[in-house]
Amino acid sequence: MILEILNTLTSKGKRSLAISIFGFVIYALTGIAMMLLTLHILELLFLDNHTNLSKYWIMLGICLLVKGGSNILADMQKHFAGFDIVYKIREKIVYRLKSFSLGFYTNERLGEISTIIHKDVDNMESVVGHMWTRMSADFIVSILLLFYLFSIDWRMGLLMISLLPIALLLLVLGLKKASNLEEENGNLLADMVSLFVEYVKGIPLLKAFSESKKFDHKLTASTSCFGESNKQAAKYRAKVLSHYGFFIDLSFWLMATVGIVLVFNKSLEPMAYLIYIVISKEFYKPFVAMEMHWMNYLKVTDSYARIKKIIDAPIVEEPKQPKKPKGSDIIFDKVDFFYEEGEFSMKNISFTTPKHTLTALVGESGSGKTTVTNLLLRFWDVKKGSIRIGNVDIRDMSYDSLLNSISIVMQNVQLFADTIEGNIRIGKANASKEEIIEAAKKARIHDFIMTLPKGYETIVGENGVGLSGGQKQRISIARAFLKDAPILILDEVTSNVDPINEALIQEAISELTKNRTVLVIAHHLSTIRSADQIIVFKNGNIVESGTHTELLTNPNGYYSILWSKKTQGSFIEKEEDIKGIFQEA
Ligand SMILES: Nc1ncnc2c1ncn2[C@@H]1O[C@H](COP(=O)(O)OP(=O)(O)OP(=O)(O)O)[C@@H](O)[C@H]1O
Ligand SMILES: [Mg+2]
Repeated sequence: MILEILNTLTSKGKRSLAISIFGFVIYALTGIAMMLLTLHILELLFLDNHTNLSKYWIMLGICLLVKGGSNILADMQKHFAGFDIVYKIREKIVYRLKSFSLGFYTNERLGEISTIIHKDVDNMESVVGHMWTRMSADFIVSILLLFYLFSIDWRMGLLMISLLPIALLLLVLGLKKASNLEEENGNLLADMVSLFVEYVKGIPLLKAFSESKKFDHKLTASTSCFGESNKQAAKYRAKVLSHYGFFIDLSFWLMATVGIVLVFNKSLEPMAYLIYIVISKEFYKPFVAMEMHWMNYLKVTDSYARIKKIIDAPIVEEPKQPKKPKGSDIIFDKVDFFYEEGEFSMKNISFTTPKHTLTALVGESGSGKTTVTNLLLRFWDVKKGSIRIGNVDIRDMSYDSLLNSISIVMQNVQLFADTIEGNIRIGKANASKEEIIEAAKKARIHDFIMTLPKGYETIVGENGVGLSGGQKQRISIARAFLKDAPILILDEVTSNVDPINEALIQEAISELTKNRTVLVIAHHLSTIRSADQIIVFKNGNIVESGTHTELLTNPNGYYSILWSKKTQGSFIEKEEDIKGIFQEA
C-alpha cells in the first residue's frame, strides 16, 4: 500500500519528497558532525594541543550553515510534497464524484465523503509529507551511522544492536495483540454510544415508567465494561512499550559496560568509546520512535483505504463503441426498476414519447414520476428492459452525449456562488455573452438582471444576492435555452411563486418546449389538458395513458377520479390525496 500511496504523487511531488528526505539526512548528518567536531575540540583542549583548533572551528561553522540551509530546504519541500498528495487525491476524488450514478450518493455516503475529503486527505498530507520524510531520513541516517560505527569498532557495534531484534519482535507481537484489544474496545464503545442514544431518545418514556432504573443499570454496566476494557488495553500497550524500550536501553547499557572494560584493557581508544556513547543515541532514534511510526502507518493506511473506497467505487458504465441516436423520440420498453430491494418498485413500464411531442407524467406523490426522469438521465440504471432515445439504448450512448441531449428544469433550482452570467453559462461552457443575453431574454429574466446594479456580473448563491424561487427558476430556464438540447425534462413549479413570476415562467416555458421532445412532471391543469399524451402513475405502475379527452371517456378510470376530485373540490377528503397531482394554473 505504501508504494501505491507514493505513486499517487506527481513526478514533481516525488521529487519534492526525495529532496526533503535528502535535506533531512543532511540536516541530521551535519548535526552529528558537529557533535563529533565538538568532541575532537574537547580532546584537543584536554591535551592542550592547539594546532588543529582553528580548522575544527571553521568546520563547525560550515556545518552550522549547511545544517540551517538543509533544514530550510527539507522543510519547504516536505510541504510541497504534502500539498501535492492532497491536490492529487482531491482531484481524483472530484473527477470520480462526477462520474458516479446518483445511487452512490446516499445520505450515509455524503457524510462519509465529507469526512474523507476533510480528515483523511489531511491525514495523508501530514503523514506522507511531514512524518514520512523525517522518518525515512532518520532510518537512512541510522543505517549510515551503523556503517560508520562498525568501521570504528565492530565489537561495540555488535553490542549496540545485540538486543534490537528481540525488542522489535516483542513490539510487533505486542502491537498485534494490542490492536485486537483495541478493536474489542471499539466495539464496546459503539455498544455504549448506541445505548446512550437510545437512552436520550427515550428519556420522556423512561421518566414516565418505573423501567428507568433497569435501563440505568444497563447503561452503567456498559459504561464500566467499556472503561475496564479501555484500561486493560492501555495497560497492555504500556507494558509492550516499556518492554520494548527496556530492551533498547539494555543494549545501550551492555555496550557502555563492555566498552569500559575494553577501554581499561586498552583494546579500545577512549575517544572511540566516547563517540559510541554519544552517537549511538542518534542510531537508536528511529527505533525509539518506532511506536509513533507504526501509529502513523496505521493512520495513513486507514485513511487511504477509505479514500480508495471512493476512488474505486463503480461509476456509470460507458459503452465501448458509443452509438449516436437518430432523433429525439423516447421509448421506455418493459422497464423494471427499484432503488432498494423490497421497497418501491416499477414493473414493466412501457411508453413512447414521439419526437417533438409533450408527455405529461401525473400521479400521486411517491408514484414514481421523478424516478422516470432519473432513469432517463441514467442517475440510476434500469434493472430490466431498456430506455431508448432515437432508437439507441441510452446505455449504448456515451454518458456525455446522453447528458448533452437533455436539458432539465427542476423545481428546486441549484445556483452556485458565482455571477448570474456564470450560473447561466452552466448550460454551455463556451457560450458568448450575446448568447447568454439571448437565452436570458427568452427566459424572461433579462429585464430583471438589468435592474441589478452589477447586471450579469452580480454574484448570487451562498454569499451573494438572494433570488426568489421564480427568478431562480427563470435562470434555470435560461440555462436550458442556452444548452438547446433536443429533449427537455421539466418539473413544474407547484407553489411559492407569485402570479407575475408564474406568468413569466409559463411564457418562457411554452417557448422552450417548442420543437423539443418534452417529459413534464405536470401539476398545472393547462399543461395536462394540452399535453399530447398523459401517463398516469400509481404506486410505480402506469395505470392509464392517453390524451386528456381520451382519458376522461372512461368515467371509472383513475384519471377521471383524480380529475373529478380536483374539479369538484367537495369530494376531496384528504389534501394528501391530490398533493402533487394537479395544481390550478
Ligand atoms: N434515492 C432513493 N432511494 C430510495 N428510494 C427512493 C429514492 N428516491 C425516491 N425513492 C422512493 O421511490 C418512490 C417514488 O419516488 P419519486 O420521487 O419517483 O416519486 P414522485 O412521483 O416524483 O413523487 P413527488 O410528486 O412527491 O415528487 C417513493 O416511494 C420514494 O420514497
Ligand atoms: Mg418527484
